[in-house]
Formats: sequence, C-alpha cells, structure tokens
Amino acid sequence: MMPRRPALLALIFAAAIAGLRAADNPAGLAVTFAAGSASDLSVAENVWLHVPAGQPATPFLAPGPFTATWKGQVAAELRADFTFHAEFNGDLKLTVNDTVVLEGKGEGDKPVTGKSVRLNKGANNLVAEFKSPAAGDAFVRLFWSNKETPYNPIPLAELSHPETDDLKKALLVRRGRDLFAENRCAKCHTTPGGMPELAMDAPAFDGIGGRRNFDWLARWIADPHALRPGTPMPQVLSGADAKDKAESVAAYLSSLKGTPLPEAKPGDIEAGKALYEKLHCAACHNPPDVAAADPKKISQKQVKAKFSPGALVAFLQKPNEHYAWIRMPGFKLTAEEAQNLGAYLEGSADKPADRPAPTDDALLKKGQAIVQTAGCLSCHVLGSAKNEFAARPLTDLAAAKWTAGCLADKPADDSKAPRYAFTDDERAALRAFGATDRSSLTRHTAADFLARQSVALNCRECHGKFEGFPAYELLYGKLKPEWTAKFIAGTHPVKPRPWLESRMPNFPVYAEHLASGLATIAGLPAKTPADPAPSDTADLAKAGQKLVSANGGFACVSCHPVGEMGATQVFEAPGINLATSFDRIQPSFFRRWLRAPTSVDPSTKMPGYFDEEGKSPLPDVLGGDGPKTIGAVWEYIRLADKMPRPE
Ligand code: HEC
Ligand code: HEC
Ligand code: HEC
Ligand code: HEC
Ligand code: HEC
Repeated sequence: MMPRRPALLALIFAAAIAGLRAADNPAGLAVTFAAGSASDLSVAENVWLHVPAGQPATPFLAPGPFTATWKGQVAAELRADFTFHAEFNGDLKLTVNDTVVLEGKGEGDKPVTGKSVRLNKGANNLVAEFKSPAAGDAFVRLFWSNKETPYNPIPLAELSHPETDDLKKALLVRRGRDLFAENRCAKCHTTPGGMPELAMDAPAFDGIGGRRNFDWLARWIADPHALRPGTPMPQVLSGADAKDKAESVAAYLSSLKGTPLPEAKPGDIEAGKALYEKLHCAACHNPPDVAAADPKKISQKQVKAKFSPGALVAFLQKPNEHYAWIRMPGFKLTAEEAQNLGAYLEGSADKPADRPAPTDDALLKKGQAIVQTAGCLSCHVLGSAKNEFAARPLTDLAAAKWTAGCLADKPADDSKAPRYAFTDDERAALRAFGATDRSSLTRHTAADFLARQSVALNCRECHGKFEGFPAYELLYGKLKPEWTAKFIAGTHPVKPRPWLESRMPNFPVYAEHLASGLATIAGLPAKTPADPAPSDTADLAKAGQKLVSANGGFACVSCHPVGEMGATQVFEAPGINLATSFDRIQPSFFRRWLRAPTSVDPSTKMPGYFDEEGKSPLPDVLGGDGPKTIGAVWEYIRLADKMPRPE
C-alpha cells in the first residue's frame, strides 16, 4: 500500500512562522507562579507543567497550592482557525486575543477541547491561567490543531514573550543561584541542600601524582583561570609568595602516587581524527588542529602538559573516574579508540615543560600544610587528610556584605577568601541571589534542572545541528524517563539508531534528573504510570502484526526492523527496531507520531498513513477506524522482544 507523502508544506510552514515572531522577543512564554503572597517569574517553553503532589512548582516557592499564568504571543502563518485541547488536573482558562477559548476543571487524562478560534496572521496574544487541584499531581499539557494538522504541542518557534523588568530581575536571581551552586560556594559556606548541583564535587586528590604532571599542577594551582577561562575552581593562593606556595602544593600532590597506569600503546593519528569527527567532540571542544578557537569551548591544547603518560587514554575511557560531576561525557570507547584519539590530540598539543617534581621533604610538608589549611579540602577529597579550613555558614553572610570577601571587586591582599574571576554581570547575579532568603537552594524541580544543565552540557550543540539526530525539542515528552535515564547514563545496551556513526555521550550523575526533566517539562510524570493492556490485547496485537506487515498492511517493515527481522528496504529511510520501542516511547507520543509523523517532526522521512479526518486507508482492518488501528499497532509493539515476525 502506498503511504501518503510527507507534506513538504510543513517545512515551508515552519520556516515562514519563524520569520513572523516579533524579531526582538525571546522564545517561549513568560510564566508567573504564585503561592500565597510569594511569586516567581520565569520563561516556559510551552503551556506545560507537571508538579507532583507535595512538591514545589518552582524552587523559588514553598510546596502547596499555587497558580501559574503564562503570557506571550503565538504566531500564525496565515489567518486560520485553530482548536485548543488540553489535558490537565486543576482549573485552566485559556484566552487568545482577549477571547476565552478553553475553560474548565480538568480531571487528569480526560482532555478538554475548546472552541475553534480564528488566529490572525502574525502575533496573537495568549494567556493561560492555571490553578492547582485540591488533590493529586498538578499538570497541564496544551495542544492545538487546525484543518491540516492533528493535535500537537504548539511549536516552540511560534511562541514568544516580551521581556519585562520584573522578568529580567527574576532571571538574574535564577542565574545567581546557578552560579552559587556551580562555583561550589556551599562547600565553604555550608547550607541545607536540595538543589542537586550542591553535591557537585571536585577531582579527587588520591593518586593524582600518577595522573598529572608537576609543572602543569603548579601553574594550575597558581592561576586556574589562566589555563581554563570559566573553570569553577577559584584561585586560592594569593600574596607575594603565591607562586612558591603553588610549587610546594604541586610537589606535595605529585608525591601522591596511586597504582601505576598501564602504558598506553601508540595510537593512529588519522584514525583518531576520523573518530573525533564522527563522535562530534567539536560540539564542546575546539579541534586541536583548527586555528580559530571559540573561547567558550574547552581547550585540548594542554593534554601533553597536563596528563602523565597513560593518563590521557585512561581519562578518555572513563572521564568521571575521579570526578563524578565532570562535564566531559563518556563515549564507551574501546582501548584502541581511546589510544587513537589520544594520539590525535597529542599530535597537535602544546609541549610540556618536563620539569621533574621536587621531592624535598620540607617542601612536601609545606605543601601538605597549605592543602589542609587553605581551603583546598573544602572542595577536594584526599583520603583521610583533615581539612583545617573553615568559613562561615551561608546564613551568616548578610546580603549587605555580598560586596566583600569572595564577591569583592578587588579582594584585600590578606583576605582568606578565594578569588573567582567573575564578570560584573556574574557578580550582579550572585548579589541578586544573595538578597533572597536563599531557601530556593533547598528545593528542586526536574524541569528546572533540565533547563540549566541542557545548556551547560551543550545538548543542543548536537541535537538539532546534525542530520539524523533527534532535534532537542522533539525529545520533550517523547521517551519514558526510566529508559532515558539508563540511556543517558550509558547503562542501556540498545543503540536505537545503529546506522549513525555517532553515539550519544554518557552523563551518569546527570542522567536521572535530565530524564525526569524531559518528561515533566512536557507535563508528563517523572515515573511512567502503568499502561495496562486492554482485555482484547491478543486480538489487537494480531491485527497490529498484520498492519506492520507488507502483506495487506502498511509495510512498516520496509524501514523498521522487528526483533531479529531486518528492514526490507533499508535504502528508504532507516527506522528504529520496533521491538525496542515499547520500552522507549511514551504511548501519547506514539499516538501523535503514527497519526501524522510530519506534524511532530516536519523533517522526518516516515510517511503519514491517515487522512485529515484520521481515517485509516485499510477499511478491512478494524473498520478503518484510525484510533483503533493505531491502538492495535501499540498492542503489537507492547510484545517487545516477543513480537511475532511480521509477514
Ligand atoms: C574555599 C572556601 C570558600 C569558598 C569556596 C567560597 N568562600 Fe566566600 N568566603 C570564604 C572566606 C574564608 C571568607 C572570609 C574572607 C575574609 O575574612 O576576608 C569569605 C567571605 C565571603 C563573603 C563576605 C562575607 C562578609 O560578611 O564579609 C561573601 C559574600 C562570600 N564569601 C560569598 C561567597 C560566594 C557567593 C561564593 C561562591 C561564588 C563563595 N563565597 C565561595 C571562603 C569561601
Ligand atoms: C558535551 C560536551 C563534551 C563532549 C561532546 C566532549 N567533551 Fe571532552 N570535555 C568536556 C568538558 C566540559 C571538559 C572539561 C572537564 C573538566 O576537567 O572539568 C572536557 C575535557 C576533555 C579533555 C581534557 C582536557 C583538559 O585539558 O583537561 C579531553 C582530552 C577531552 N575532553 C577529549 C574529548 C574527546 C576526544 C571527545 C570526543 C570523543 C570529547 N572530549 C567530547 C566536554 C565535552
Ligand atoms: C571551590 C572549590 C575548590 C577549591 C577551594 C579548590 N578547588 Fe581545585 N578544583 C575544583 C574544581 C571544581 C576543579 C575541576 C575544574 C574544572 O572542572 O574546570 C578543580 C581542579 C583542580 C585540579 C585539577 C585536577 C585534575 O585531576 O585535573 C587540581 C590539581 C586542583 N583543583 C587543586 C586544588 C588545590 C591545590 C586547591 C587549594 C589550593 C584547590 N584545588 C582548591 C574546585 C576547587
Ligand atoms: C556529541 C553529540 C551529542 C550530545 C552533546 C548530546 N547528544 Fe543526545 N544523542 C546523540 C546521538 C548521536 C543520539 C542518537 C543515538 C542513537 O540513537 O543511537 C542521541 C540520542 C539522545 C536521546 C535518545 C533519543 C531517541 O529518540 O532515541 C536522548 C534522550 C538524548 N540524546 C538526550 C541528550 C541530552 C539530554 C543531552 C545533553 C545532556 C544530549 N543528548 C547531548 C548525540 C549527542
Ligand atoms: C520510509 C520509512 C518508514 C516507514 C515505511 C515507516 N517508518 Fe516509522 N520511522 C521512520 C523513521 C525515519 C523514524 C524516525 C527514526 C528516528 O527517530 O531517528 C520512524 C519512527 C517510528 C517510531 C518511533 C520509534 C522509536 O522507538 O522511537 C515508530 C513507533 C514508528 N516509526 C512506527 C512505524 C509504523 C507502525 C509504521 C507503519 C505504519 C512505520 N513506522 C513506517 C521511518 C519509517
């Protein structure tokens, strides 16, 4: 059976709309949360929200009843009629161009459909007001549709909001809170936790002498920002003898040898370069042999100066071995791959100074004393060595004093405060945060974590940039968080797209929160609810098997493998093995996807099978009923690795 061609129109559509958004207005909607007399402003990517009962709506509000109000503009390509549709638990009122288009009390998954509304060409004002329910999780998932496209979330590119002074102020506070956590302020100024990043560690000192070269250690300790702009490690040693102190500390650290590393075998530079390109290391790094350097990316020029022999290859294979919250992901490299990458990087790295570490006993003792008294061990761990440095807890830092100590524009020479290389903007953000009651550090939402860390971890430097990688926003609400957490951590054995030469890098400590965030940001729970099979699941699965087959069905198997059976026409556009899909994808995504793939992802090569009314072109299966047909395929996919072979 011939599938309907993917609508090229959708592509042209999206491009045209992007041009319509008020040019200087940022993407997303401004959202105000209020609980009692407290409120918080932020930017939301859509009218989406999921707040489990008893948890806060945002880190800046205490848990309890709340309201959320989204405001901004939605762009339309031409004058056209749209219908909004929402699943929610609580009260929702949606107003477009001053007309109420959807209003009601939501009862969970029973969607409420609003009345049809004509949107003008260009910007239309949109306001959504939500009140949390008396009991249960609060959530909202808003969709829209028009004559050509079935219900889908409003694409991010079509939403924008004006930047108000209040919003800018609130975003500055949020940034200050991020900076406070990232820069490990709480390691010295202790405070009760809740925000996951407060647990961020620093590389362990045990055995560090076997992994790092002495000269590099001395230079790093004296001035970390000179070697890596933007590093969260502050300069700790100051005063006229700072350089001597750094040398003694480096000598002491060099004396801490662990079990010797195996010597790395010589690698193949050309193979290393090819792998570097395939794995898109340049998403976060300036390739070592490329002259134009982006200052925001991490340099790899120092690998020879920094890593002791064998340590670079060991690092590439397990970047988080001594530093759990490191931002460098793992790639499950084989020893040979790591050797080749190492050879490529070393081939164009700066020359090391090759200074042997001094071993003088008095010098090592001096170094050790500094490590124990200067604050290094507030952030770094070293076996049983005692930290003899203390600073005041956070509650003792009065807001008026956030211009002194660590936040002084120029700290006094004799101050024991570490020196951060903050810009004026960063200091302003930290001060704005310091002026709050700081209770936000005790609270956490996964959507908030995702918003911060997807930027810090450069998710969009790959997703949305390279052909064949899922675009980042398409991941919202697509996958079951349990699967995603394992996949991001690198502990799931399946590679969904074996045809890609690239791999998803692994971020183990970040994985669970990111996975939860990718669900809750789209209004779905962080724990996938039970999806019980209907009583006639066996019959439906049989029908589904026929639908997926080439014989009397849709011939899905021309692109999709099913278990052991390979796709029959792989040259078309490779699809994911359907025997893995039940574990991966949310049922709600599956239904939207099958109903009209290009309305979900305008660039996909998967064809649509259903007509504008949603009717199936196969009237002899389930009477051609669209939703029933889609449901039957789901029951077949539910069998996962027990899916019987399609014909
Ligand atoms: C290594 C431990 C350490 C870290 C990390 C640290 N501080 Fe400090 N901080 C201190 C010490 C010690 C002082 C007191 C300095 C002095 O007396 O001159 C201080 C002073 C301050 C003061 C001045 C308080 C006053 O009443 O004078 C502020 C504000 C401050 N720190 C904020 C921060 C922030 C924000 C961060 C993170 C960006 C941070 N600190 C990270 C140790 C630390
Ligand atoms: C998602 C971003 C990201 C990707 C992708 C990435 N890296 Fe990194 N890499 C980092 C960050 C961040 C650091 C700094 C880690 C630290 O020390 O805190 C780093 C550090 C390194 C270092 C050590 C540099 C030094 O001077 O300490 C090497 C070597 C390296 N990466 C190699 C690679 C290679 C090879 C690839 C591709 C296989 C790669 N990276 C892909 C983020 C990334
Ligand atoms: C506020 C926390 C903090 C303090 C205080 C601190 N460091 Fe660090 N240090 C870090 C972080 C975080 C990193 C990782 C750097 C990065 O990711 O860019 C680091 C990196 C290092 C490294 C590189 C380790 C490696 O394996 O690559 C050394 C060496 C080091 N610090 C030594 C010291 C010494 C010595 C002191 C005291 C004089 C000190 N640090 C004080 C947070 C801190
Ligand atoms: C170096 C490039 C790169 C970076 C950086 C990257 N990814 Fe990926 N990601 C990939 C590739 C390639 C795939 C597809 C892997 C496959 O299907 O075999 C993928 C797949 C995924 C998937 C599964 C999607 C699906 O439909 O199967 C998720 C979820 C994901 N990435 C999330 C993230 C998040 C979150 C970040 C940032 C923390 C991130 N990625 C950063 C390359 C990257
Ligand atoms: C022309 C090739 C082609 C045909 C025919 C096709 N698909 Fe797809 N399908 C794709 C592509 C391409 C994707 C997206 C793959 C990606 O995310 O990288 C996809 C994705 C999917 C997904 C999401 C899987 C996952 O785990 O993420 C499902 C489910 C799916 N298709 C089901 C079907 C069904 C059922 C049929 C038949 C009714 C069908 N497809 C026909 C190409 C095809």
